[in-house]
Amino acid sequence: MSRTLGLAKTVPTADRPTLIAAAWLHDVGYAPQLASCGFHPIDGAHHLESLGWSPEICALVAHHSGARFCAEIHGLGEELSSFEFTEDAVSDALTVADQTSGPQGQYLPLDERMQNMLTRHGPDSVNARAHAQREPYFRCAWARVAVRRLFADCAVDHRVLIAG
Ligand SMILES: [Fe+2]
Repeated sequence: MSRTLGLAKTVPTADRPTLIAAAWLHDVGYAPQLASCGFHPIDGAHHLESLGWSPEICALVAHHSGARFCAEIHGLGEELSSFEFTEDAVSDALTVADQTSGPQGQYLPLDERMQNMLTRHGPDSVNARAHAQREPYFRCAWARVAVRRLFADCAVDHRVLIAG
């Protein structure tokens, strides 16, 4: 969640509360009492849906960090498709925040985070099997967020220059 605060400037102001809420909630599906299909993005999204959270937040949780690539391997692609994936600044920021956070919440550069994930889950894991499809998505999302950060920082510097 704290990583998304640092990336909040890359999304439109009106979307920042959605990004922060999705960041708080994105892994709620890991709670054992919520396990249904056993795939935490879907279990979490269904739980949030049952509590009346907005379709946008449920979809962000369902699709966080390229869940669609893992869902296909789990045989859950159709179930996931009940939540609409939107590739935009908010989903990019949520994915990049997640994929630059280590197991204890510490910052990890994307390459270290991916290596950490592959080591923790093992070579036969769904994450490893989905990696060939997920890695390009992570890198593209990271690049889009980097460009948005640059533009956001330039806008701030520009205002400072004008004020000076
Ligand atoms: Fe997750």
